[in-house]
Amino acid sequence: MTRYWHKKPLLVRGAIPAFELLSNDRERLDSPISYKELVQLASQDAVESRLIKSKPWSFDHGPFAKKSIPQINQLNWTLLLQGMEAHHPAAAKILSWFRFIPDARLDDLMVSIAGIGGGVGPHFDSYDVFLIQMSGRRQWRISSQTDLSLNPNLPLKILNHFQCEQEWVLEPGDMLYLPPHIAHDGIALDAGCQTWSVGFRSPSIKELLQEGLWRLAESLENIPELERKFADPKQEATAHAEQLPQELIIQLSEQLKELGLDQIERFLPGVCAYLSEPKPQALFDVSPKLLTVNGFSKKLSKKALLAHPQTRILSLGKQVFCNGENMTQGQSSEVIKAWQSLSAKKMLTPQKLGKIDQSSLFEAYLAAWLIFEE
Ligand code: SIN
Ligand code: CO
Repeated sequence: MTRYWHKKPLLVRGAIPAFELLSNDRERLDSPISYKELVQLASQDAVESRLIKSKPWSFDHGPFAKKSIPQINQLNWTLLLQGMEAHHPAAAKILSWFRFIPDARLDDLMVSIAGIGGGVGPHFDSYDVFLIQMSGRRQWRISSQTDLSLNPNLPLKILNHFQCEQEWVLEPGDMLYLPPHIAHDGIALDAGCQTWSVGFRSPSIKELLQEGLWRLAESLENIPELERKFADPKQEATAHAEQLPQELIIQLSEQLKELGLDQIERFLPGVCAYLSEPKPQALFDVSPKLLTVNGFSKKLSKKALLAHPQTRILSLGKQVFCNGENMTQGQSSEVIKAWQSLSAKKMLTPQKLGKIDQSSLFEAYLAAWLIFEE
């Protein structure tokens, strides 16, 4: 992190050693997700997918009818599937290896599959990315060029003048880290080439401030004392009627201080709640066979509880936010501890909990934000 994060590219050969360890003359380890499965996923509404063809360039958004996706042996196409951690346990597993970076920064795992010659063209991203080669080989060419102008005549973001500075062929198990704004072009060398990319979120400072401030403003709803009307018994006759009264300024600044609204601690819960919001397309299918509170307690004493793959959990000190809500506020110490474990380990080992009806833990289970391990 000190040497490379946000600073310079890093090529890691054999980042997933299993590929090399398990390769021999007859057998090779391959991506745990097949072409067929990816095509099937790209036909679903709930999966964000894109199909890009080169020669000539074309770009389409999914869902795709299976027939509209080229056969694996065809040339110059690539299919991109976003948010795969929610749809395949292997993708969730690989994303979990990147928890040396805070959860609040992790976005999702994108899988690309391509025919020979396929790629998205020379471009740059505004985010960091780890590109993991999972099947076949891909040639990567990169550049630290400052001319990042895009070709206005193409349906996708392709650089006007790409000047390759370094290039490598990545084999399965190899990984390339690129900081933001490094120009890159990856071309599939084998049919069914798969690259899995771990992407990051970089909200603007404006977005963080605005989202934190909305939530802070909303939190004032629960303070009845603030309903009192402004009164100014000390107001004197004025010669500057057009000016905002001094009395109002004094009272507001006292009130801001009293509520701690001038302190970062009051502002951060809103930011944490915002960053814990699930992706807009996240779907939580509530099971038709939900347990009663007693059934839930009983099952929890035997089975681990996990975060649903689309659930986001973040902590701010001892407070835990899940899918945009504070789950620890007003909860028993047992429930708070349970949430802290869910936040840190994304799972809660089987345990006996006391009174949990009306607890945020049971509510999150009812909303399918938390699920029992199979
Ligand atoms: C790809 O997997 O083909 C594209 C990934 C990227 O360039 O960010
Ligand atoms: Co890119």
